[in-house]
Amino acid sequence: MSFHAKDLAAKIPPTFTLGIATAAFQIEGALDEDGRGPSGWDVFAKKPGAIVDGHSPVVACDHYHRMPEDVALMKELGIDSYRFSLSWSRIQPGGSGPVNRPGLDFYDRLLDLLLESGISPMVTLYHWDTPLPLDEAGGWMNRDTAYRLGEFAAIAAAAYGDRVARWVTVNEPATVTTNGYALGLHAPGESQLLQALPTVHHQLLAHGLAMQALRAAKVPGEIGMTNVYSPMVPASSNPLDKLSSGLMDVFQNRLFADPVLLGKYPDVIRAATFFTPFSPSGEDMQLISQPMDFYGLNYYMPTSVAGGPGEGAVPPGMAEAMGDDLSGSAPGAPFHITAFPDAETTAYGWPIKPEYMAVALSEMAERYPDLPPVFITEGGASFEDVVIRDKAADRMIIPDERRLRYLAQHIATALEATAPGGAAESIDLRGYYVWSLLDNFEWSAGYKQPFGLLHVDFDTLARTPKASYYWLQEVLAARKDAAAAAVDARAAGEPDPVA
Ligand code: BGC
Repeated sequence: MSFHAKDLAAKIPPTFTLGIATAAFQIEGALDEDGRGPSGWDVFAKKPGAIVDGHSPVVACDHYHRMPEDVALMKELGIDSYRFSLSWSRIQPGGSGPVNRPGLDFYDRLLDLLLESGISPMVTLYHWDTPLPLDEAGGWMNRDTAYRLGEFAAIAAAAYGDRVARWVTVNEPATVTTNGYALGLHAPGESQLLQALPTVHHQLLAHGLAMQALRAAKVPGEIGMTNVYSPMVPASSNPLDKLSSGLMDVFQNRLFADPVLLGKYPDVIRAATFFTPFSPSGEDMQLISQPMDFYGLNYYMPTSVAGGPGEGAVPPGMAEAMGDDLSGSAPGAPFHITAFPDAETTAYGWPIKPEYMAVALSEMAERYPDLPPVFITEGGASFEDVVIRDKAADRMIIPDERRLRYLAQHIATALEATAPGGAAESIDLRGYYVWSLLDNFEWSAGYKQPFGLLHVDFDTLARTPKASYYWLQEVLAARKDAAAAAVDARAAGEPDPVA
């Protein structure tokens, strides 16, 4: 496959959105400024051993102070859309009750600047940073948290509804349940294994209530939610591996997508006697499965699953990447994630398998015939970057070819799979968002897993475009040129040059 920007640009329909994504807690810093309240992540990150090498999110990328510079870099990149999340604690410090004007103002300025720069905003209401008072009251184990997100959605709708093109209610509830409540790797750091199941329902209910609030406010923007999807692959043809892979598929994929897209929990979950801490009412299920304008799908990698307990809570390569701090948290589960023997991996140890992007889309198409239009709301890769000083030109060069190759392969595969004749041709794929704009605070992995198209020097906070940034800039420019040529050709009555 060619990675030339022009070749990829030629495959991208003119109406397809190419975007870039971030999340508030990973980039903003300024945790104690302008009336922001603490979030559960502020506290979790201070726990000894919670974050690799004790890295702190207090400054992160300092985006709170450097936001205009970051928007200018996006404008220069030529991106169509920017997906960012609101810090709930900055806007509503208590997680309920009064709003904090300076917090609201920050996103007001950001939205205005984006629109002036020709960038369409996609806003995520909840990307994991729960206000601390809500976490202290039980977090997502407590049904009340769902109603609080519904109220927060109404606040956001009133403040920003006129300018937001697309809303994502909740990002990756699967990761919050698994890492935050089942394995203790993320805030709030609870290791409750299957007892964490109520957090699934409460987050999905929060999605439903947030949607209801946005609809009630009659926001003109489209509304959806984002789930991560990882195709599950048995490590061998051994029946135990197959069974385990099927179970992982239920717990990581279907548990979160079925209720939203089919209006019910997977049968195996409903049948399980351990799933009794709550009994979802018909009313809840209706809220959860309201029709969405789009579905957000995060795809990073497939997962190879083997039967029997493994060494740790995370796959072998990833445990090494994250250091001793995390590799010891073995959950004693009856199955585990294992490495793909033949796969190149990212710095995280994640297998790079672009062909599974097509598998993810075709499985989604098969399972969910009424799937609304889809945006891939995240995809990207962490690699250890090398920064080279070009003395002659007095600038830094960051040759991250592996990252740009990852992006090119995944975007091309997604487009091919959803084109007529492709494995997922029934899916109306509307866009792809690169994770991420900046190297940032990668949750428990601290600053050790850089995903950015912009390198961040965490001593000086200087941003430097990597080769992947320049490559995407070329893709975007070539796509615009091709679209302009098509318009000219049509005006002159000639055949369309891109057709
Ligand atoms: C999350 C991001 C995270 C990325 C890479 C996604 O699961 O939404 O917050 O940084 O993956 O791990």
